[in-house]
Formats: sequence, C-alpha cells, structure tokens
Amino acid sequence: MSRLIVVSNRVNPPSDTGVATAGGLAMALAAALRDNKGLWFGWSGQTVEQYTGQISMQVVGGVTVALLDLEAQDQNEYYNGYANRTLWPLFHYRPDLVSYERSFDEGYARVNTRFAETLLPLIGPDDVVWVQDYHLIPLARELRARGVKNRIGFFLHIPWPARRILNTLPHHDDLAQSLFSYDLVGFQTEDDVDAFSDYIVHDVHGVASPDGRLDAYGKSIRVKAFPIGIDAEDFAETLKSERATLFHRMMIKSQRGRKMLLGVDRLDYSKGLEERFNAFDTFLSNNPEMHEHLFLLQIATRSRDEVDAYQDLRNRLDNLSGKINGAYSTVDWVPLRYVNRPYRRDELAGIYRSADIGLVTPLRDGMNLVAKEYVAAQDPNNPGVLVLSQFAGAAEHMKEALIVNPLSREDLSEAIHRGLSMPLKERKRRWEGLYDDVKRNDVTRWRDAYVRELTAAVPAEVRTGELAET
Ligand code: G6P
Repeated sequence: MSRLIVVSNRVNPPSDTGVATAGGLAMALAAALRDNKGLWFGWSGQTVEQYTGQISMQVVGGVTVALLDLEAQDQNEYYNGYANRTLWPLFHYRPDLVSYERSFDEGYARVNTRFAETLLPLIGPDDVVWVQDYHLIPLARELRARGVKNRIGFFLHIPWPARRILNTLPHHDDLAQSLFSYDLVGFQTEDDVDAFSDYIVHDVHGVASPDGRLDAYGKSIRVKAFPIGIDAEDFAETLKSERATLFHRMMIKSQRGRKMLLGVDRLDYSKGLEERFNAFDTFLSNNPEMHEHLFLLQIATRSRDEVDAYQDLRNRLDNLSGKINGAYSTVDWVPLRYVNRPYRRDELAGIYRSADIGLVTPLRDGMNLVAKEYVAAQDPNNPGVLVLSQFAGAAEHMKEALIVNPLSREDLSEAIHRGLSMPLKERKRRWEGLYDDVKRNDVTRWRDAYVRELTAAVPAEVRTGELAET
C-alpha cells in the first residue's frame, strides 16, 4: 500500500500532552500524517561528534518519525548557514542580510546528500515522498540520482522571491534546476507561482503552460499554489480546553477593562516587529486620549539565536520596548507588554480570544497561520479585528481583515484606531467572512489537495521520456 513520507528539517509533532509553541508548520504536518500511517523523516535537532548515518525511529503523538543526527559542522553550515543566513533572508526580500559563503553551499549539499542516503532504504515501491521547505530543495535530485522513481513533491512554506532578488544568489540557476527533479512543486500563493514561473520563463527560457506545467532543463513539472491552513476542528477543541479557558479568564482579569492589541510571532526580522512597535509609538503619540485604555501584548518567541541578525534584532527590540514604556508608562499602566517566553498552543488560544485586535504585520510571510488561529479563537458574538499585512501570503484570501502596509507607521496606526472603533455589526460581518475561509480551507483540505495532485502526477521518468521524443 502506498504510504506518505514527509521529509522536513525539523520534526516535532505535538506530543500527547498537546504542548506546542507558536509556529504552524509542525501542527499542520502532524495533522496531515496522523491518520495516514505515514512516516515523518528529518533532523533530530541533535548533533553528534561523528556522523554515523543511523536513524532512530519512534512514535510521537501518534506519528511515526525517523530521525537523523547531524554533526556540529552540518548545523553551522546547513541550518545556521545556507538555510537561515542565505535562503531565509533572500526569500524574505532581505538581500542586505544575506551571507554567502562557499562552506554554506557545501554544507547544504552535504546534508541534502545525507538525507537522501539515509532515506533511500525507507522508501517502498509505491510510497509518495513529500519534501517540505527551503532546507531541502535539492533533495529530490539526490534521490533521483540514487534511482528513486517514486512520485516526489515539494512544498515551499516561505515566499518565492521575485527574479531580480533571486538573481543575487550565486548558483541560483542550480537551485531552480534542482526543483525540476520533483513531480509537483507547491507554493503558498499565486504570487509565488508567478514569481517562480517568471524566473523560469525569463532567465532559463523555459515554457509556462496555462494548465500549470513548466518545461525547462529538458524536464516538465507541475507547479501550483496550495495555501496552507490550520487544523480548524482541532483548534476549536483546544479553545474549549481547561487551560485555554483558564488563560482567557486570566487575561480578561489582567486587562482590567483595557483593550488589548496582540501580536504572536517568532522573533524574526521578517515579522515586522520593529515596525509594529514604531507604529504603536505613533499611535500613542497621536492618540493621547487612548492612553491607559489599551495596551499591546507582544509575544515574540526567541528563535535561531545563533544567527547574528536575530541577536541584533533582539537587542533592538529590547531597546525599543524600553523606550516606549519609558516614554508613556504611568505608575498604573504599561503600554507594551513584551514577552519572549514561548506559550503552549492551548494557552495561546485563550490569549487570542481575549484580544480586541490581532496584529499580524509581517514584512514578508509565506502564509502566516497566526492570522488564521486568531480568527478561529474569536467569540462569534463579539469578535476582535484582524489587522493583516498586505505582504503576508494570508492576505491573498483574508480580504475581510484590515489590510495594511506594515512599512507605514501611519497606515498601521490608523488601522489600530479603526479597529478599536469598529462597530460590532461590522466586526461580525468581517469575522464571519474570515472564519468561513479558515474553516473551509483548513489543513486537511491543503493536505488532500496536495497529495491528490501529487498522486495523479505522471512520474518524472515517463515525462522525461516523452519530452525527449518531442
Ligand atoms: C518557518 C519555516 C519552517 C520552520 C519555522 C521555525 O515557519 O517555514 O520551516 O521550521 O519557521 O523555524 P526554525 O528555524 O526554528 O525551524
């Protein structure tokens, strides 16, 4: 019987206790695998003195996982290096933060080879392999080189950059070419599909067909947008849990009648946290009558601490939050509650529910599942308002949010004002539209749509033969 094998850098299905921190990818994949009897393969997150290529198999939260240990050099060159110092900033439109080092290239290639070598014996004849995210773009090419004929799909959780941005990456052509070893390449948005096709058509002189095929490098692949969602049903259950209820009550008490604006993000420069703090500063400065009547709770979970850009950002946010609180606080009121510790998913559900405004204002984001969780957590009779960046993938569908340009302090400050004064009728109307989309386009639909398309794909070998004949 055909199994689904998901491959990703990080493998962290939520444990049976339901403890999970912010970040939607893990939740989405666990939900996709649980009832499929599939396998989740990836890095253990651990490093060992000497790489052995041994994998450990275990069952976590109902999901079978196969984990590979890497070496410290791999972690530095592949994860902290090429993935998080090169591709991440580049794909999030921050070429100024990109580091190119040849050792990063080598580490990225080495780890992708190691993944292919260790995964190879686990792949059965009918299995379908689904590779996730920017850490593993060349994996299919490595598997094909070892004779794998199975259907292999790729899904990119982050944006695909415009071609002029991609052009700044040394060996960009090689990276793009490696995607042509997949049968199906999935992106979050139509915008990403367009950016990738644009590169292939203009820089590689490939051909894009209206039915979603891309022909280049003597190969033909299918390319399509599959916007990811949350596990809406499971989230609704979480919201009813004791812990969520406890946190909701606790927040209401702690608000003392004040309105709460909420941000929940990984501490990452793509999330627009500095811009959000600055916009909040502008809001406070323009609306003195609102002082003491509201506050911003920003949960920013520490992330990728070993990368300089993240340490720098942390320092800047520490300064900025101190500056804002120093300027506006009174003996009885602190305008900005800035929190770096992670919260469990059930705790977050309760916190989301008590927020009058959800601020999701990244400068670039593949999708952003916090926006969807915030909507799913609202009280239908008194929903909060979602303020959403035009640069989040989620903005392609969540049209009833207040869409903002996060680079404009005034724009964001005005959206906060508008959200705070929005009549209940309008809040309900907007929320109903948003919730409908979150429920309908959930993670199950995402998984089913992707896997259906991948299973239906004509295997690479057959297609390559056909192309060669024409
Ligand atoms: C984004 C990426 C994921 C990644 C997550 C957390 O959502 O698309 O692939 O796992 O960030 O980042 P980290 O580096 O901690 O895995």
